[in-house]
Amino acid sequence: KTLADLGDLRGKTVLVRSDFNVPLDGTTITDDGRIRAALPTLKALLDGGAKVVVTAHLGRPKGAPEAKYSLAPVAARLGELLGQDVTLADDLVGESAKATVAALTDGSVALLENVRFDARETSKVDAERAELAGELAALGGGVDAFVSDGFGVVHRKQASVYDVAQILPHAAGSLVQGEVEALDKAITDPERPYTVVLGGSKVSDKLGVIANLLEKADTLVIGGGMLFTFLAAQGHEVGKSLLEADQIDTVKGYLARAQEKGTTILLPTDVVAAEAFAADAAHEVVPADAIPADSIGLDIGPDSAKAFADAITASRTVVWNGPMGVFEFEAFSGGTRAVAQALVDATAAGAFTIVGGGDSAAAVRTLGFDEAGFSHISTGGGASLELLEGKTLPGLAVLEA
Ligand code: 3PG
Repeated sequence: KTLADLGDLRGKTVLVRSDFNVPLDGTTITDDGRIRAALPTLKALLDGGAKVVVTAHLGRPKGAPEAKYSLAPVAARLGELLGQDVTLADDLVGESAKATVAALTDGSVALLENVRFDARETSKVDAERAELAGELAALGGGVDAFVSDGFGVVHRKQASVYDVAQILPHAAGSLVQGEVEALDKAITDPERPYTVVLGGSKVSDKLGVIANLLEKADTLVIGGGMLFTFLAAQGHEVGKSLLEADQIDTVKGYLARAQEKGTTILLPTDVVAAEAFAADAAHEVVPADAIPADSIGLDIGPDSAKAFADAITASRTVVWNGPMGVFEFEAFSGGTRAVAQALVDATAAGAFTIVGGGDSAAAVRTLGFDEAGFSHISTGGGASLELLEGKTLPGLAVLEA
């Protein structure tokens, strides 16, 4: 169901779940991509004269207020981007929230304080989540409709994502709709060659997705911290690089399955090895099978970057999730930059390209790439991976009903 299915919302109170889980440096938002991605749905509702109440989380507070996780910086940025005041309630369903929602006029918007300040949001007990959902739905004398637009959280069975949709008329917002349509192109019948580039620090975060993609993709390109567990599985020493020793056997299984299935797993042949994990650490390019014992691999090397780029530009569908190295440090950003550029080149040549995952999306922007150079930049991290894994996501399934 989409916004149009909710009919005329003028004068109606609409609860919107957004994903405003943005990276912060103190109280400064370092990448506002998720806030900007939420604007089309919010603007459509406001232009249509709805009273809009937005709920969102920031970080992982433990079910009680914590100043550093306040949505205050988000409310300020959202107000700037919308060009209108965004009132931030001091609480979620308490006196402040009630008064703030009651004061809304047609075409105005309020943000409730971090939904994870209430332990019921993430509770595993259905009745506790349902109770919170009921309180959210009762705001303003009774919310008229729920719009799910926080794509980054649709894999979470949480009160403001899942339970509230069970009790209110609901619809997917345009962000959720667009994300599902774009990712679906890569999941169902992707144009081939289909290449998936995986990075990020841990293999253990990506077990399901690797197993699933081994069956579906033509080539899996592996970079980021997790590449060292792959190198170790091939019998190489990785020095002081990130290694998940308990995943080596699993990775050996992946390598064997890839061979059986005819899926190419492309691993780096060289890496940038540093003396320490620091922006200014002394570093050198070394062969991937000869990492010195006292070094830490912090990026893929230039030969690997070239090989990865060639695989990407030869593809018709490319999904990229996870940086290739510690891109936040200029000296170790070359691999991530090269992969991003290869996706831009592939897009220009007519391929369908998706950047998924909060970190890679932020990398693309902080490295100065134009978002228009990619077919789709997903706002979802875990959510996009779970969709690619072929899982049913609770926050999407509940919208079908
Ligand atoms: C994300 O950052 O991927 C989403 O906002 C979900 O956050 P979570 O992993 O803390 O549920």
